[in-house]
Amino acid sequence: MRLDKYLTECGLGSRSDVKKILKMREIKVNGKIEFSPKINVSTADKILHNDEMIEYKATRYYIMNKPAGYITATEDKKHKTVMEIIPEWVIQKNLFPVGRLDKDTEGLLLFTNDGPLSHELLSPKKHVDKIYYVEAEKTITDEDIKKLELGVDIGGYITKPSSCERVDKNKINLTISEGRFHQVKKMLHAVDNCVVYLKRIKFANLELGNLEIGEVKEINMEEIL
Ligand code: URA
Repeated sequence: MRLDKYLTECGLGSRSDVKKILKMREIKVNGKIEFSPKINVSTADKILHNDEMIEYKATRYYIMNKPAGYITATEDKKHKTVMEIIPEWVIQKNLFPVGRLDKDTEGLLLFTNDGPLSHELLSPKKHVDKIYYVEAEKTITDEDIKKLELGVDIGGYITKPSSCERVDKNKINLTISEGRFHQVKKMLHAVDNCVVYLKRIKFANLELGNLEIGEVKEINMEEIL
């Protein structure tokens, strides 16, 4: 693979960033400063950036604090997609979001190019927990909380047991292990209420932490499950 492509895929920056880095004589290949973007390299070569080893990873994982107003899709003719917020330094090749958040939902969205892991995380058999911070239009009563926890009918399907933590009169943190279409909104609807704000704060072992809205951060696979 060409050196500039290799460095880009290692997350060093865009092709043009990488060309600048090469010009600045910051790259060594097998102990020798290299400034041609065109030479061929492989994972067997020892490649350093400012004397630090660069690791080539075939699979990548990123989390985003998704803002409202973007649909979760890799492309769309009409709407803005989450891919438009992915910064240039992120390895974009074959990258896709794992699961879906609605256009008006904010919060934690995982991106990867790892198909098998995505499949595992989304498999209904895996019961991966997701926590949503929910603000509802009306008060969520203790009775509603019991119903939500036991399972509610969301149009011919009874949701699996969930858990609710009260935050305020009309605010809860809802933990579900399923990921049905509009599930949280439909669950609140089932107790005669309506979601006015929704944010996913946890997915599997991943938490938003202090990631700003619209921000993206690379993570390791070991942090996910
Ligand atoms: N449930 C919803 O209703 N919407 C989301 O975006 C995620 C879960």
